[in-house]
Amino acid sequence: MRALVLTAVIALALFAAGSCQDVPPLYPSSAPDDIKQACAVTERKCTACHERDRIVYANHNVREWQATVERMRTYPASAMTAADTQVIMRCLSYNADQSVSR
Ligand code: HEC
Repeated sequence: MRALVLTAVIALALFAAGSCQDVPPLYPSSAPDDIKQACAVTERKCTACHERDRIVYANHNVREWQATVERMRTYPASAMTAADTQVIMRCLSYNADQSVSR
């Protein structure tokens, strides 16, 4: 019984560690440099309150991203400016466009 519990704990720990590391980046490797830069800003600004996985797996279209980014920006702790929003939208729109053609 004890061994079983231990095995379960180890399996859970491995699963948690693995699922953190496997979150893909915000942009495909084929993305041009300006998109990679916009995504670096996005990563910095948008992971202050939660992990990148929320963004990567959200699968929003451009209109949904606009609403989400605006909601995030207006959270009191966000430290995001309107100018940041434009840069962030360039990153997120690029990914949204990619997912449409998939
Ligand atoms: C100030 C803290 C904070 C920052 C900064 C922040 N978020 Fe969030 N985010 C939250 C909270 C709290 C929730 C859950 C409540 C909600 O959905 O509004 C959330 C939920 C989400 C969700 C899931 C809900 C949905 O609409 O799909 C996505 C996607 C998301 N955030 C993306 C982003 C992006 C992109 C950025 C950067 C522009 C960002 N977040 C920055 C706090 C933050």
